[in-house]
Amino acid sequence: MENLNISNNPVLLQNLSILRDEKSTCQQVRIATRQITRCLLFEAARTLPLVEKQVKTPIATTTVQVINPDIKIIVAPILRAGLVFIDEALEILPQAVIRHIGMYRDEETLKPVWYYNKIPALTEPAQNHYVYITDPMLATGNSLVEAIKIFTDMGIPVKNIRAICLLAAPQGVENVKKTFPGLEIFMAALDEGLNDRGYIVPGMGDAGDRIFNT
Ligand code: URA
Repeated sequence: MENLNISNNPVLLQNLSILRDEKSTCQQVRIATRQITRCLLFEAARTLPLVEKQVKTPIATTTVQVINPDIKIIVAPILRAGLVFIDEALEILPQAVIRHIGMYRDEETLKPVWYYNKIPALTEPAQNHYVYITDPMLATGNSLVEAIKIFTDMGIPVKNIRAICLLAAPQGVENVKKTFPGLEIFMAALDEGLNDRGYIVPGMGDAGDRIFNT
């Protein structure tokens, strides 16, 4: 599917097996999630704009490439499970700012319910912003659509926004693509579907519970 990035990196797949296994401990799930985050974020960051500069090695002066220091990188975790991506994201992209998105899923309607949204207005041109929305489980896609809207309503182009997930269901991907056709989504696996409670099948169960031991 267009704009769908599913990694087949063996390191990622090894860690995915840990996420899926109901016998894995919370600590094992957290460590595996961090490893997968690294793989996905490196991929998702590959289109960040570069500029050249000169450095002196101990031997000679040479031209190197660095991420354009004038762009603004936003990492936006959808609370609470999206938080698990943050430590890795800040190690890989230390210049990023974090913008928390507080939404939970109503278990009856499966619709997102806001409980925290304090994202400040942009102080720089919108097109200079690059956004990584982290949401481990792309199930119905309703929360992700709401989260993307926050940034597109500020004028940030969809081409500058990326979703980073662990697992996705085809229904969720379709839902997001319908509203934002150009959106790039990075994930460890595209699963079979959703069960009648809106859980991804085969999935990993409740990501928040498994990551935070609740
Ligand atoms: N949220 C979860 O934590 N797991 C799912 O399978 C779907 C949504």
